[in-house]
Amino acid sequence: MFESLKPVAMDPILGLMAAFRADDRTTKIDLGVGVYMNDQGHTPVMASVKEAEAQLMQLETTKSYQGIAGDPGYNQHMLELLFGPEHSILSSGRVKTIQAPGGSGALRVGAEVIQRARPESKLWVGVPTWPNHIPLLGSAGFEIKEYPYYDRDTKQINADAMMETLRQVPAGDMVLLHGCCHNPTGADLTHAQWDLIADLALERGFIPFIDTAYQGLGDGLDEDAYGLRMMADRLPELLVASSCSKNFGLYRERTGSITFIAENAKQADIVASQAMSVARQIYSMPPAHGALIVSLILGDAALRANWETELTEVRSRIQSMRTLLTDSIQNNAAGVDFSHVQQQKGMFSFLGLNTDQLDQLRNEFGIYIVSSSRVNLAGINSSNIGYLSSSILSVLK
Ligand code: LMR
Repeated sequence: MFESLKPVAMDPILGLMAAFRADDRTTKIDLGVGVYMNDQGHTPVMASVKEAEAQLMQLETTKSYQGIAGDPGYNQHMLELLFGPEHSILSSGRVKTIQAPGGSGALRVGAEVIQRARPESKLWVGVPTWPNHIPLLGSAGFEIKEYPYYDRDTKQINADAMMETLRQVPAGDMVLLHGCCHNPTGADLTHAQWDLIADLALERGFIPFIDTAYQGLGDGLDEDAYGLRMMADRLPELLVASSCSKNFGLYRERTGSITFIAENAKQADIVASQAMSVARQIYSMPPAHGALIVSLILGDAALRANWETELTEVRSRIQSMRTLLTDSIQNNAAGVDFSHVQQQKGMFSFLGLNTDQLDQLRNEFGIYIVSSSRVNLAGINSSNIGYLSSSILSVLK
């Protein structure tokens, strides 16, 4: 049977991660996969996570099944983290959150529920977007349509073209938005642009599907949630896929959630039952460990304060690496403008290098960057910045 199968090329980001690991040059630099690294180039377990894990070892009395929706405490904490504890949606009965295996699992459950509700809905994605959005959501059955998002020439969001396209989206279609820290460009919507998209959603009748995988890595936990909180206020229906991979550093624990906002409480209950039926058909139940850690952290004032301090350090370090890279390039090359890197948010920016330059960086210098020219700023540190900037400058010549 298997002889009919052809080999499939590895995912571009995960393939790059494997190639980096296999490279034995000691000077190599990983600016590829979106994983936080400290100034030593290490991805540490957060101290608050370690503490919660230690508590969990003591508290946990069973490994029995938890249920399809995961841990109810985690789901409630995620709702409050996403929307803020005072948001009116929390007491409306119109919102349901279920735990999911990472942000990807959350996206997939959301997509499958939409397919059940309205199989003819198309999914509009910004160009560019996270490369796995299209295979992940397209394989759930969506026809994918595109709207312009980022202009590589101006290094800004192409707001006019984006709004012009969104003005044509038919009622009942879905529009994928990045909650914050846009992956891959780092170019985030302004509040005014979020407001305008909400106006268009109301006018046209399309439904936003927000992927928020980096809450807290842009401007702050509350600041990064502006768009989804505003939309939850104003729109009758909304989906939010969220992830604890980056802001809790729980990557391999696959900890995420999918939130549905429906027109009324009765519909929200039905949507949640559909989401659980989807989950049962795909993976049955989500993994427990990461969600229990998040639940312990968010449910304990001291642990939460420690986590927020650690998250602030992560955010500040990435921000200072933006400044370091921008300065070290601009101070050493007349006419090269990297100021967009300084202005953008979250883990990523586009450097604007072409394929030849990226190949040269990888082959000659052992510097790994995703082929879109997306860099993970957290891969930069005080030891490699000199080598990195001189290598970039040499390929820019
Ligand atoms: C990334 O964009 O690098 C991360 O979200 C990791 C992944 O799964 O692609």
